[in-house]
Amino acid sequence: MLKFPNQGNIAGFLRDSWQKEASFMQQAVTGLPELAADEIAWLATQPDVESRLVFTVEQDAETTYRVEPGPFTEEQLAALPERNWTLLVQDVDKHLPELARVFEQFSFIPSWRIDDLMVSVASPGGSVGPHVDNYDVFLCQVSGLRHWKVASKNAEPKPQPHDDLRLVEPLTLFDEYTAKPGDVLYLPPGKAHWGVATSLCITYSIGMRAPTAGQLAAEFARATSDTPDLDSFYCDPDLAEDEALGGRISQAAIARARRTLQTLSTLDDATIAKLLGATLTDPKAWLAPPTHDERESSKVLTRFRAGESLVLHGMARLAWTAVNGQLLVFANGFTLPTESDWEPALLTLSRHRRLDTAAHSELSASPSGQHLLRWLIESGIFDLDHGSDA
Ligand code: SIN
Ligand code: CO
Repeated sequence: MLKFPNQGNIAGFLRDSWQKEASFMQQAVTGLPELAADEIAWLATQPDVESRLVFTVEQDAETTYRVEPGPFTEEQLAALPERNWTLLVQDVDKHLPELARVFEQFSFIPSWRIDDLMVSVASPGGSVGPHVDNYDVFLCQVSGLRHWKVASKNAEPKPQPHDDLRLVEPLTLFDEYTAKPGDVLYLPPGKAHWGVATSLCITYSIGMRAPTAGQLAAEFARATSDTPDLDSFYCDPDLAEDEALGGRISQAAIARARRTLQTLSTLDDATIAKLLGATLTDPKAWLAPPTHDERESSKVLTRFRAGESLVLHGMARLAWTAVNGQLLVFANGFTLPTESDWEPALLTLSRHRRLDTAAHSELSASPSGQHLLRWLIESGIFDLDHGSDA
């Protein structure tokens, strides 16, 4: 786990920094899984991998940033100049699951809050410009040096127009740090920052995710048909004579619509838990692992009983919650109610990314445990191609 500086601890970080203030933590990580620059380059040639190149263009004393989306050819990457570019690859944990081990450093954050590992390789002068991100991020320096400027407390540089990068004006009031391998910069959402590579360097960005109120509302809307509390129509038994002025929407109509929406705040915890879990574990469309049929799950279950481990798929999104004495399990947008007895097994799977029969024989010994395992297999939670002997 992350080593907090100055004898700091999780409680102190959550209280003082998380979602509040930037924190530069020197020598906070060791033993991160490695990825060489040519492996990052290989990922950027793959059509199913999201990648981009950002060039720093200095012309007539003006600096601009040009973004080129991937995938790239090997020739394009080999022809990159000595300076002023950054190659960024998104969702590396999904494509190379062994890299998901990076998340163990952040086990003090619920795993469903973590979105992805983005890896960047930057040449000297390489930068994505001064910008803000919508989510919290932990920026781990893996190799080389990067110079960071982070907007001072209460300094909010103005946004600058740009189609792809959330640029702001160059920072004038800032704190600055030079990140060396092992250093970590934490940034809360909306904190302006500007990293420039001062030597060829690799940075791992562990980005968080959180649904917007709009996404939650959309999930509520999608679930309306099977959620009785949500299928009530807008109604107006108090319609007044002076409201009918052609197409005019009256103040009274707005108040009634507000009351209709307020039924959302009366939903019980179980309903909200279901909608939240389904939203949080819904994978991006191009990052959904394959689902499996009953025949496949029977075969896998037999192998598990015989001692083979089950390994979490790189693209799996798993979460659960306890409501009304039951466990609601969410896997890649699907939901299963099950017994609370299975929480330790889910915790092991989530933390260690694998399940061993020896440690969890009780799962395959009970009908409800078997049902859960089968459902997890069918939902695509396990990597069935992984050579998974314990
Ligand atoms: C990078 O890793 O190149 C940039 C990350 C960031 O500034 O958010
Ligand atoms: Co950023």
